[in-house]
Parts: sequence; C-alpha cells; structure tokens
Amino acid sequence: MCRYTFNPFLKQNPDWTGKSFDFLRNSDMFEFHKSLEGYEATPLVSLPKIADTLGIKAVLVKDESFRFGINAFKALGASYAIYRFLKDRWEGQFAAPFNERSFSDPAVLEKLGSFTFCAATDGNHGRAVAWTAKKLKQSAVIFMPSDTVQARIDSIRSEGAEVLIIDGTFDDCVRTAGQQAKEKGWFEIADTAYEGYMTIPSWVLNGYSTLFREMENEINLNEGPQIDFVFLQAGVGAFAAAGASYYTQRYGKHRPKLICAEPLEAAGFLDSIDFGEGSPIAAKGKMETIMAGLNCGIPSLAAWPILKDSIELFLAISDDYAEDAMRQFAASGVISGEAGASGLAALLALMKDPALADARKKIGIGEHSRVLLVSTEGDTDPENYQKIVRND
Ligand SMILES: Cc1ncc(COP(=O)(O)O)c(C=O)c1O
Repeated sequence: MCRYTFNPFLKQNPDWTGKSFDFLRNSDMFEFHKSLEGYEATPLVSLPKIADTLGIKAVLVKDESFRFGINAFKALGASYAIYRFLKDRWEGQFAAPFNERSFSDPAVLEKLGSFTFCAATDGNHGRAVAWTAKKLKQSAVIFMPSDTVQARIDSIRSEGAEVLIIDGTFDDCVRTAGQQAKEKGWFEIADTAYEGYMTIPSWVLNGYSTLFREMENEINLNEGPQIDFVFLQAGVGAFAAAGASYYTQRYGKHRPKLICAEPLEAAGFLDSIDFGEGSPIAAKGKMETIMAGLNCGIPSLAAWPILKDSIELFLAISDDYAEDAMRQFAASGVISGEAGASGLAALLALMKDPALADARKKIGIGEHSRVLLVSTEGDTDPENYQKIVRND
C-alpha cells in the first residue's frame, strides 16, 4: 500500500535568505567531521541488478552502515551539534576561539566543566548522542518509547549512556526530554526542532549534510548532478532537509527531483502537505511501523519549511515495501535495516505499484533515470533483520 502527493507548495528557486534559514549558511561541517578520529567517507555503491529489474539506468546507494562504526548516519548530526554547543559556551565564557582541535582536546573540555546531554530517540540518534558524549567523557541520558526493541536499548547502553523508557511514543519522549533537561540542568540535543527550541536541531540537520558533500567529486559535480532523482526518508525530517537543502543550494532549479519517503502509518510530512493548509501537523496514522527510525509524528520546525519548498513528491509506503527493499539490498551485498531501506522501498513502490502509475509518469522516471538512495542504517535490530532477510 502507498499514498502520495505532488507538492503544491514546490518552488523552483526557494528563498532561504531570511534569518530563520541562517543556519543553512554554516559551512564548517565537513572539516569538522574529517577531524574526528575514525572518520572515513562511507561507500557509494552501484546496484546494476536492481536498476535492471526496475527498468532504470542506474541506482546508487550511499551506505551509512559504515559511519563511525555505529551502524547509522546519525553521528554526523549529534557530533556537530555538540561541537557547536561547546564552541558557543567556550567562546561566550573565554572570548577565545574554539575549533575542531579544541573539540578533542581534554584540557579544553576540563576547563569547560562537565555536562549531561539528553535526547529522545527511537534508536539511532540516541546512540549518536551517547557515542559523542562518551568520546568527550561526558554523560548522556536517552529517552526511548516503550515499544523499542532490546537491541537498540543495548547498543545505547553500550556507549555508556543511561536509557529511560517512557510509556508513550517518540513524540512523548521528545516532550519528556525537554522537561527533564530544564528540571535537572541537562542539555538537550534533540534532532527535532519545536517552538522555542530551534538552534541545536538546526546544527543536527547541518551535520547530516556531510554525507551529501562527500559525494561531491563522484556524482555531485560542478557541471551538473549526475543523478536525476534522490529519495530521502523522513522521520522528523532533519535528514531529508539536509539532502534537500544541499541539492537546492548547489543546483537551484537544476537540482535532481527530490522524493520524500515515509511510513504509511507515520507520514507527518505527507499529512501536513495534504491536510495542514501550509503548516506542519502531527501524522494521522497509527504510529506503528517496522521503520523505527521514521516512526515520528511531528515534523521538525527546522526541516518543514525546507521540505515544503523543495520536495517534488511525498510518498508514504507500507512495511511490506521496506521488507522487500531490505531483501533486495541484501541480495546486492548491502546490509540495510528497516528505516535504512525505506528509500529503496519508496523506489520499488514508485516503479511497481499500480496505484502509482500516474505518479511514475508525471515525475518522469524511466529508462534514462539515475537514482540516488541513502541506506541510512545497517542491521540496527539484528534479530528482526535476519528474520526479514531470510523471509522466515
Ligand atoms: C535509520 C534512519 N534513517 C532515517 C532517519 C530519519 O531521520 P530524521 O528523523 O532526521 O528524519 C532516522 C531517524 O532516526 C533513522 O534512524
């Protein structure tokens, strides 16, 4: 099953010059990430078999399961946000510059004092915050919804963080993390922006841009993009907005066509486009999906205006497409988890689902098309991954 909407708000040349878009002018993310221990660009892999089966020219996937050894792209956002947070504090306190080297200098950190960072997560962002805190020898408290699988809890605890389970959804965890941060003097590193809390999530979004920047000499060329369609999966939308702003700022109206993929039961962006009259609203679905990383109901206020201006097609898919995509990735040697495979899931739906025949035609995908996907995670729930891939 799927649902889609061509974006009636789409702008060929979005105007992102206003103050609320200032963060899009940040440009030190790539240099920062390159300075981190263990940094390596993740592989970009061509999948000719999948392209052949779908009748398109090329499918490329950026495999983020290799990112910093934590099996998902998310450390790019949390590390950059915490870097900027510390930089602000240092420069405010000592009126002296703080750069990438300061971030890994124990003497600098000692002078700054100690911090407890907190965040809500359905898995990967929490692990990324915990991973960064551990690197800096600081503490982290991570809030997770009650339907979280044990493997995701364990991987966050393995980074030394405290995990608190909340009886509710991801969005309830976001509220609790914000409240607890205020009460306990912790520092919230959320990946989603809400009224009164915009700066840190904007830095998280900035951080994700590194993965698109890494491809600059391969498919993102000065003379024009070597791809025609980019599929961007959305939970709170920070990842999709990082990709959408990267391509829009780089190529303007000549950008590849951008397609936003969401779970059918947690389609906050598609529902906002369809029913929000130009404003973000909470997803109307049941908030039940195997694509755990995308099981977020409320769009991030930092991501919303970017996606509203630049996404061509919003597409929501059922879990069976994600399972199929995981198997197809596995057959091509890419280990991709439920949310990780959702971009391919949306591509499979677009190319195969009879209900999408008109959408296929209207967007113009076909034998000459080159498609970029991002597998945003590996097997973050290994047991379920094996079950799905083996088709048990
Ligand atoms: C694997 C994976 N892919 C994609 C996303 C979506 O990112 P965002 O919440 O920024 O939309 C997430 C979010 O947790 C994720 O874990």
